[in-house]
Amino acid sequence: MEIIKVNASKEYEVVIGSGILSELGERCASLLGKGRAVIVTDSNVKEYWLDETKKSLQLAGIQTSVFVFPAGEESKSKETLFELIEFMAENRLTRSDFAVALGGGVTGDMTGLAASLYLRGIPFVQVPTTLLAAVDSSVGGKTAVNLKAGKNLMGAFYQPELVLCDTRTLDTLSDEIFADGMAEVIKYGVIFDRELFDRVKGGNVKSDIEKIIARCVELKRDVVARDEFDKGDRQLLNFGHTMAHSIEKCSNFEISHGSAVAIGMVIAAKASAKLGWSDEDCTAEIMNANKNNNLPTECGFAPNDLADVALSDKKRTGGTINFVVPEVMGRCVLKKIPVETLYKIAECK
Ligand code: GLY
Repeated sequence: MEIIKVNASKEYEVVIGSGILSELGERCASLLGKGRAVIVTDSNVKEYWLDETKKSLQLAGIQTSVFVFPAGEESKSKETLFELIEFMAENRLTRSDFAVALGGGVTGDMTGLAASLYLRGIPFVQVPTTLLAAVDSSVGGKTAVNLKAGKNLMGAFYQPELVLCDTRTLDTLSDEIFADGMAEVIKYGVIFDRELFDRVKGGNVKSDIEKIIARCVELKRDVVARDEFDKGDRQLLNFGHTMAHSIEKCSNFEISHGSAVAIGMVIAAKASAKLGWSDEDCTAEIMNANKNNNLPTECGFAPNDLADVALSDKKRTGGTINFVVPEVMGRCVLKKIPVETLYKIAECK
């Protein structure tokens, strides 16, 4: 078992291990008392992990209620958010009670936001069941739902009380969903840690997954401690994401977030080499790591379309944006670039 302490506006532990879902109840009871918990989960995760989660909480003397919503990004909406908050109110949750987010990024982001709003804030616990949620979205306190104008536009920084990741939950993921999380793992390697990159670049990571998740969480913990509110260094975590958002949109969200990030990292690495921003061209290594982890390396969209979408996301021309580029493998930097340079970057697809 690995335990990582996060020190943001709130201190909490991220506990990672196989079979630790049974410890959830005792850990919550000792941190939060024996109040009541609303477990929030989606229609897929419910089938696999709800019973065990409920049992663990109930054995520790915590009463539970369950809010299930339809699986999928469409549920990350203000409608489901408000249904969840109404559910908390109907169940008369007080500030001595708490929410448990059992699932992937949609569940964690929405539950965190509901917890931040209901009664001006009740505690919540993250139980990530996807690799992407385990290494990224469950840690660091970003919560949000989508608006018509774009993803994650309504949210708050609100840290959980505990993150508990039972690595058995990753065994129930499809290969595609697992690969999605690997894109974020590769991303941590390229931004911060050559050794991590070397460990995962060949694929076949499952036997070592607990340590790999723990390393990603340590790296995220460090950057969140330096910049919790995303004004500087935390933006390094957006490596690959500017183009990824365009790719997701151009594909009408047929291309998953992880696949889009994988391609976005290749574009950013190529651009960094071509535009003279890097000391080392990392493109080939990232492409190989993607391939070995069942991730794509390119997309068929026209460069102008990718740049147009990225620009419309920024809702302006003539300004600058922070764009993340690798200087060498294991070290990325934020470059302030004119938004129009996005056209040159997209040419590197
Ligand atoms: N997912 C990027 C961040 O937490 O800042």
